[in-house]
Amino acid sequence: MNLAGKRVLVTGATGLIGRRVIERLLEQGGVSIRALVRDPTKGEGLRSLPVEIALGDITRPETLREAATGAHVIIHCAARVTERGRWEEFWQSNVEGTRHVLEAAAHSGAERVVHLSSVAVYGIFPRDGTDESFPYQPCGNAYCDTKIEAEKIAFDYFRRRGVPLVVLRPGIVYGPRSPHWTIRIIELLKANRLFLLGRADGICNHVYVDNVVDAILLALANDAVLGEAFIITDGRATTWREFFGHYARMLGRQTVPQLPAAPAKLLLHLVGWAFRARGRTPPLSPKVVDYLQHRAAFRIEKAKTRLGYVPRISLEEGMRRTEAWLREAGYLRP
Ligand SMILES: NC(=O)c1ccc[n+]([C@@H]2O[C@H](COP(=O)([O-])OP(=O)(O)OC[C@H]3O[C@@H](n4cnc5c(N)ncnc54)[C@H](OP(=O)(O)O)[C@@H]3O)[C@@H](O)[C@H]2O)c1
Repeated sequence: MNLAGKRVLVTGATGLIGRRVIERLLEQGGVSIRALVRDPTKGEGLRSLPVEIALGDITRPETLREAATGAHVIIHCAARVTERGRWEEFWQSNVEGTRHVLEAAAHSGAERVVHLSSVAVYGIFPRDGTDESFPYQPCGNAYCDTKIEAEKIAFDYFRRRGVPLVVLRPGIVYGPRSPHWTIRIIELLKANRLFLLGRADGICNHVYVDNVVDAILLALANDAVLGEAFIITDGRATTWREFFGHYARMLGRQTVPQLPAAPAKLLLHLVGWAFRARGRTPPLSPKVVDYLQHRAAFRIEKAKTRLGYVPRISLEEGMRRTEAWLREAGYLRP
């Protein structure tokens, strides 16, 4: 579709991907943007941009109807993106929230909806070479399993209600402002709380935030991909050791401290018992050791051939841009 003159509603506008897609659409020009914001204080950061701010919460459908009215395009980035929290909280944001966004899109007659899903729909331990022909892998993790249910609802709206949908499944998204895979890593390293567990030679399936935004813009432009899902990564088999090593070097360190697998698991079991004995949720499961050693790369051939996706920003360039942003934002100070 041609975006000229269109009104674009972005949910999750205060988050990593939502904010960056807004900036890129503004750079491109020719569209008007409505940003869905649930917390006015967080929305302050968007006030410097020429966007209309609509206050709303995807778990409260009555707040979405108005935000979606007149929106030709909806880019649905809002979700509960974390490892912690109650199942019900994930269900409300990721599953019911997606249902409400798709219902609002159907009601307002949106011409295109891009739903941000995740490779998490293939579980925590996906098979090497996974592509879009592989089935969902529910695994008991609240984030992963609710992202599966969210996709099912989105596809249901495509099939039954004719909502013109494209689904994107990014790998781990890093880059400027990334709370999960950039800022948190730097903060853990600075606090000497990040360790390479076991061999840490598992594949992390990263994707630079602007590469994800490229895929979103391609999904909007391409009319031949409605009802399709695409895995989006940088297409490179980088190990966690290498990925975290980039951040360590930004802090002037040569290596990330390492803990062999067996003592790491024992330690995490002991920490888990101690937390549970006090009625608290442990910060990490011993499974994280296996996760960091799990060697499975996703295939992105479908995105390349059908969407025209090219991971334009390499890991080296992405890390260079990320470092420049971290330095400017003060995160690299001791
Ligand atoms: N980051 C990754 O590594 C990654 C990887 C694969 C897929 N994805 C997917 O990509 C999408 C965007 O992720 P992201 O990295 O941009 O996440 P993020 O930085 O954590 O942002 C999440 C956004 O969702 C908003 N939100 C959460 N619950 C909401 C609700 N009930 N109503 C309205 N807004 C709500 C948040 O608002 P507040 O600011 O008010 O909290 C925030 O703006 C998500 O669907 C995520 O599952 C992310």
